[in-house]
Amino acid sequence: MTFLSLKTADLQGKRAFVRVDFNVPMQDGVITDDTRLRAALPTIALLSEKGAKVILAAHFDRPKGKVVPAMSLAPIVPALAALLDRQVAFAADCVGPVAEAAVAQLQAGEVLLLENTRFQPGEEKNDPELAKGFARLADIYVNDAFSAAHRAHASTEGLAHLLPAYPGLSMAHELDYLDKALGNPTHPVMAVVGGAKVSSKIDLLQNLVSKVDILAVGGGMANTFLAARGAHVGKSLCEHDLLDTARAIEAQAASNKCQILLPTDVVVAEAFAAHAPHRTCEIGDVTDQEMILDAGPKSVAALAAALETAKTLVWNGPLGAFELPPFDIGTMEAARTAAALARSGRLVAVAGGGDTVSALNQAKVADDFTFVSTAGGAFLEWMEGKALPGVEALKHPS
Ligand code: 3PG
Repeated sequence: MTFLSLKTADLQGKRAFVRVDFNVPMQDGVITDDTRLRAALPTIALLSEKGAKVILAAHFDRPKGKVVPAMSLAPIVPALAALLDRQVAFAADCVGPVAEAAVAQLQAGEVLLLENTRFQPGEEKNDPELAKGFARLADIYVNDAFSAAHRAHASTEGLAHLLPAYPGLSMAHELDYLDKALGNPTHPVMAVVGGAKVSSKIDLLQNLVSKVDILAVGGGMANTFLAARGAHVGKSLCEHDLLDTARAIEAQAASNKCQILLPTDVVVAEAFAAHAPHRTCEIGDVTDQEMILDAGPKSVAALAAALETAKTLVWNGPLGAFELPPFDIGTMEAARTAAALARSGRLVAVAGGGDTVSALNQAKVADDFTFVSTAGGAFLEWMEGKALPGVEALKHPS
């Protein structure tokens, strides 16, 4: 299976339906982070340069098949026009006569944004009639929305079967790096998985222990593993009903020769609050009143030493309560170590997931990582080893 390439395609005068992810954070109609708009720019520019008529389609929020004016994509238009430095037309519907009329107005190289695809009840149902309606607007289909590729919706999946389907440049770039991280990586491969709960990442952990050489577990979920090994974790976040699950994952790791790295020392406090009085202690010395809020210096040093031995890193989730200083230190130090190794070319470092991106930005190292995915749910499903319908639908029998 391969993918068609936009770079070699003849697109002059062709109408391109381009699925992007413009589900950006917005406050009072103002975009507070335009990363996802910027991610779409190379594909839009390439299509325009090649003389295609660019028809952008996206969802925004979860209107559940109804027109919700507060979830209109209209506020995206000025921001996108400014980034592209060219006019962007807007169609008040994403399908049917309004959309068809707007497409008919387009000249080669021009850009049109369609209204929120999720205003249509058929979008999330992957309704074939809606997909046919989209197909009537265009000659080719481009999907540049990796972060929505875990959804089998009419604009992310159904439509891909009705027109020649291409990955956009951002999608292709993302797939390439994700393949370097877990698909076809250089070993040793290390995964760092943090965050609050084992329960939300069971599939992900099970997949990783079959693929990576070292799995470092941090954050609240490490407490569940520590408790499963018999450690006393006091008031720490810990899923006591999942101790057997943690043990099963450890057993799976052992049979796959995957080493699991857990904290050996921790930073503890009696209150879950920024600057709460705290101390560093060994695992085993945590009292009933204390909760673990960060990895300790020995644990961070062990993680750094493991990173030194790795050739590939895939990271999801913080190692501690990084939003509450000083319990961000473990995550920040580990992020800086990985970034330095990536910068020097010794490590392919790939990270993703909402909290992880915030943590890397807080450490000011996101740019040093080899690749940082802004996808949330799609990145997690990829780490779980699941096929993403939006990606599968682009595959072309070679
Ligand atoms: C995201 O923001 O992760 C994507 O746009 C998908 O959004 P959804 O979770 O509402 O499908």
